Amino acid sequence: MHVVLVGPPGAGKGTQAQLIAARLQIPHVSTGDIFRENVSEMTELGQQAKTFMNAGDLVPDEITVAMVRDRLAKPDAHAGFILDGFPRTLVQAEQLQKTLAELDENLDVVLEMKPDDEELIRRLSGRRTCQGCGRIWHVVYDPTLVENRCDECGSGLSQRDDDQPETIRRRLQVYREQTEPLVGFYADLGLLAVIDAVGTVDQVTLRAVQALREALSA
Ligand code: AP5
Repeated sequence: MHVVLVGPPGAGKGTQAQLIAARLQIPHVSTGDIFRENVSEMTELGQQAKTFMNAGDLVPDEITVAMVRDRLAKPDAHAGFILDGFPRTLVQAEQLQKTLAELDENLDVVLEMKPDDEELIRRLSGRRTCQGCGRIWHVVYDPTLVENRCDECGSGLSQRDDDQPETIRRRLQVYREQTEPLVGFYADLGLLAVIDAVGTVDQVTLRAVQALREALSA
């Protein structure tokens, strides 16, 4: 199964991708996570990406496309993948089609997650991420039993540098200008399924699984 998740910052892409990937036993490929790992390991890629990320801007296409091409060529992605945060521009979407054609693969479905704008801000400002296993938490919607300690692996939690109000506003603007046009691109290819991203995590997962089933049986 080859799935792309599209939606604004805070729509719940990472949360749902973790759950669906575990269920389908396919890798969850998040470009944001790969960039953040590189930033924390202070690699050359991380240094190139950091300035763009902290400003809430997109990392240039050529850097991002090359990184994803390498990731999708790895053996674990042959069984399928769920892409979270990629593609984000029309250039990236076209390059993804090209990469998949080279690998003799196709996308099965693009899930657009449609949230409520005010809810996005609440979700992003309360988000915490486990520094050990990467599990995504929320201080109100999905709190840990012990403050700032992951229930699943016991590591500490951190807040993302780009989850500050000004950067959140910029990321939302960038989404509208550069990523939303992808919805039309994938609708024209007959790959788009839209799900309501408002509601509890479980409710959204049910809608996502239903949309994936319908796409597979179409
Ligand atoms: P990236 O990491 O991809 O961030 P994003 O797209 O802005 O999305 P987020 O991770 O903020 O939100 P999400 O939708 O995954 O929400 P989550 O599940 O965490 O990208 C970061 C940066 O990297 C970019 O700005 C850019 O600079 C760069 N980058 C990445 N990809 C790139 C690309 N392709 N090209 C160029 N640059 C790129 O949920 C948020 C919170 O809400 C969590 O706390 C969660 O617990 C909570 N929550 C989730 N669902 C629910 C629910 N149903 N109810 C209540 N709370 C919920």
